[in-house]
Amino acid sequence: MKILVTGANGQLGSEVRKLSGNYPYNFVFTNSNELNFLNLNSIKSSLNLIKPNIIINCAAYTSVDNAEKELFLSDTINHRAINLIAEWTSENNCKLIHISTDYVFDGTSKIPLTELATTKPINVYGKTKLLGEKACLKNNPNTIIIRTSWLYSSFGVNFVKTILALMKDKDSLNIINDQIGSPTYAADLANAIFVIINNDKWIPGIYNYSNEGEISWYQFAKSIKELTDSKTHINSILSEEFSTTAKRPKYSLLDKTKIKKTFKIEVPPHKISLEKCIKILKNEA
Ligand SMILES: NC(=O)c1ccc[n+]([C@@H]2O[C@H](COP(=O)([O-])OP(=O)(O)OC[C@H]3O[C@@H](n4cnc5c(N)ncnc54)[C@H](OP(=O)(O)O)[C@@H]3O)[C@@H](O)[C@H]2O)c1
Repeated sequence: MKILVTGANGQLGSEVRKLSGNYPYNFVFTNSNELNFLNLNSIKSSLNLIKPNIIINCAAYTSVDNAEKELFLSDTINHRAINLIAEWTSENNCKLIHISTDYVFDGTSKIPLTELATTKPINVYGKTKLLGEKACLKNNPNTIIIRTSWLYSSFGVNFVKTILALMKDKDSLNIINDQIGSPTYAADLANAIFVIINNDKWIPGIYNYSNEGEISWYQFAKSIKELTDSKTHINSILSEEFSTTAKRPKYSLLDKTKIKKTFKIEVPPHKISLEKCIKILKNEA
């Protein structure tokens, strides 16, 4: 069985690559040079050459703030390219695992969001990711879509690594305390993807995945501080006090019941996973 992993140098793609050695499949890993989602005319011909049986699509335009002024790039990578990939997978009996985001929601919910919750993105990135989801479901109803949130890893650029770097230089940091969700250690998500692939049955549809727990970015930063014994003071602020180009949902906690029940996936608590990631980063330092 041949598995194509796109966006293989991103956070999730790198974690999938790291785990891939444990599995007896033939993997092809592509970066944005080898399979460029902006080259819409060549996507299907590239897939014809690779001929995967499964695609794990980890590639995306993920720059949430820049997307507000780069609508064309965000839409081409997160939507129009996915449209073609989903079409190709349907035409070629290939399974597709596509990754989406909690930013398809507007943040007004007061309860954890199930896969059936109403979507209403409030930024360009979320809008283009939702269009990507819809393209998958329309062109290949056999797709598995995994919505995840607040992704971090020892690979790439993310909140955990940014806070660790800032804590080296700063006496205090102001972190937003009124956006609630749960972080996702990309290594845990990569593991969940392999559980799905190794499952006897392929059960298509949308699934949520993040680590367990309900926290704010402020609480997340406090956990990073505790686990590293940093002396930096973490101040709680409101979203209004930290202006960003793109709006973010105030509440985007994902309900994981469906993925846990369907694939018997165990979801680690956020702090346990954070500890694992920080341990790796400390060993690398
Ligand atoms: N990061 C988050 O907080 C977050 C939260 C929720 C959901 N997600 C979703 O989770 C998935 C994985 O995210 P991530 O954080 O691992 O992303 P990431 O680290 O930003 O990596 C994204 C990858 O996409 C590739 N890419 C960008 N433009 C491309 C293009 N034109 N053609 C082909 N590939 C291109 C990049 O490849 P190169 O490195 O080769 O340029 C990069 O490696 C994405 O679907 C994202 O939307 C992320």
